[in-house]
Amino acid sequence: MTSTSSYDVLIVGSGAAGLTLALRLAPHLRVAVLSKSTVTEASTYYAQGGVAAVIDDTDSYASHVEDTLIAGAGLCHRDAVEFTVEHGPDAVQWLMQQGVRFTTEDSSDEPHLTREGGHSHRRILHVADATGLAISQTLIQRVRQLENVDILENRVAVDLITRHKLGLAGENRVLGAYVLNRDTSAVETVQARFVALCCGGASKAYLYTTNPDIATGDGIAMAWRAGCRVNNLEFNQFHPTCLFHPKAKSFLITEAMRGEGGILRLPDGERFMQRFDERGELAPRDIVARAIDFEMKRLGAKHVYLDISHRSAEFIRGHFPMLYEHLLNFDIDITRDPIPVVPAAHYTCGGVVTNLHAETDIPGLYAIGETASTGLHGANRMASNSLLECFVFAKAAAEHIHEHETNVDLSTGLPIWDSSQVRDPDEDVVISHNWDELRRFMWDYVGIVRTNKRLQRALNRVQLLRREIQEYYSNYRISNNLIELRNLVLVSELIIRSALNRHESRGLHYSLDYPHSQAQPEDTILIPPR
Ligand code: FAD
Ligand code: SIN
Repeated sequence: MTSTSSYDVLIVGSGAAGLTLALRLAPHLRVAVLSKSTVTEASTYYAQGGVAAVIDDTDSYASHVEDTLIAGAGLCHRDAVEFTVEHGPDAVQWLMQQGVRFTTEDSSDEPHLTREGGHSHRRILHVADATGLAISQTLIQRVRQLENVDILENRVAVDLITRHKLGLAGENRVLGAYVLNRDTSAVETVQARFVALCCGGASKAYLYTTNPDIATGDGIAMAWRAGCRVNNLEFNQFHPTCLFHPKAKSFLITEAMRGEGGILRLPDGERFMQRFDERGELAPRDIVARAIDFEMKRLGAKHVYLDISHRSAEFIRGHFPMLYEHLLNFDIDITRDPIPVVPAAHYTCGGVVTNLHAETDIPGLYAIGETASTGLHGANRMASNSLLECFVFAKAAAEHIHEHETNVDLSTGLPIWDSSQVRDPDEDVVISHNWDELRRFMWDYVGIVRTNKRLQRALNRVQLLRREIQEYYSNYRISNNLIELRNLVLVSELIIRSALNRHESRGLHYSLDYPHSQAQPEDTILIPPR
């Protein structure tokens, strides 16, 4: 069964970016929010540390801007940084109006501000150590109250529909998207006057990641296939402290633990971060992750330790209640035991090129949150700036849509998805094998430390995989697994090509062949073929 539906705004994604946009849009607009799994399943839900914003009187916009620029290693766009930072307090105010109750100081109603790497002030608002959970639940509850918004779960956007893709003359414009309904296996046509890609990042390209399964770069891949430029995709952020335990699926240990005094130790107990950077455990993430990687390789160690046990048990249980409970399941009592940790892929700093209205290269198409490259993060995102970016740019996109909505009609008569030439797949092992292969060579060859040789090996393999997957895609009925793999293979190729283009080390991109930074920082912009 195929079907066609129409909306003013189609929002692909139900994380911080998508939910905020839905709430910021005027009630006369008909809106659909797609979620490829359940509505909560998004990186947003798992965020621990918090939201960075200038709230304290002793802090300043200039300081938040400066810290972000330093962490970004010369590649941030100052206008995007200033825009985000200056809209921070408004975003926080709005979250509180929606009902988010940030943790307060013991003695007052003032929010408790924690610290994370790269921040020279305490400026992270949080809800204990489960900030994302509180934000998701609050925003979802709000969106569910809106009569103009449909939340559609188990719906996977496959590809965008644009005027140029349909061979229509004149200026290009987005017209909607094809969407796989996972409950019925039918591909539905969704027409829309505006589309926003709020699909999160692509950290699932790596074998070990802190991200949930949805992080397969779908937004970046769809935008690229539709003709949008992408930027700085070589900057994959590895979070320094992910739990190392044979029975634990990748699980983040928040940077706020280091902000509250957590110490990184080698297996023999030695504290080592001061040898790498005078900021110690609170150096920006690229530096801490590389230091851990270096020490693990030097010692042949499987992990290092993060130790907060010198703080009082009451303090630890009060500040990190979720982590305390969760780690007890693995027989780790963080009030006494150091936590075994390793770095894992965490955040996609690059993405679809947008301006300060979150507009992409295609009129009517927006990209917000981890899918986008606004220029905020440069070569290394500073902790807790990403949720902030989602809130700030979703609001900017809503305002832009309101300004332009009267000029855009809903296009009708879009072609339905043609599945007449495809058949049911004979063996799905091709898909699962290719998933494993991709994630392993990305980890081994395109990880924390890179060389030309490793990148070239990865490029040869990814191109082979891409051809194989494309052939499969053209001949067999599509499934969620296939759509995700097709996207992840494409985004991985874009990551590798971007990395090969950068002949220097900067921020998160570290190459043994080019250990120094060039004097003039430059973005790596890739342009899709016409
Ligand atoms: P997400 O929250 O990832 O949402 C993506 C949405 O898109 C999902 O609903 C998904 O189903 C949907 N989607 C994707 N593809 C499709 C498709 N093809 N069709 C339909 N739907 C699709 N940042 C901070 O600032 N502070 C923190 O404390 C923090 N902690 C973190 C902890 C963890 C464990 C992780 C993984 C990340 C953390 N980050 C943190 C980063 C931050 O959480 C994310 O960058 C941010 O939540 C991204 O929000 P988003 O709305 O862009 O995407
Ligand atoms: C964390 O809590 O360490 C994650 C913060 C972030 O990714 O911004």
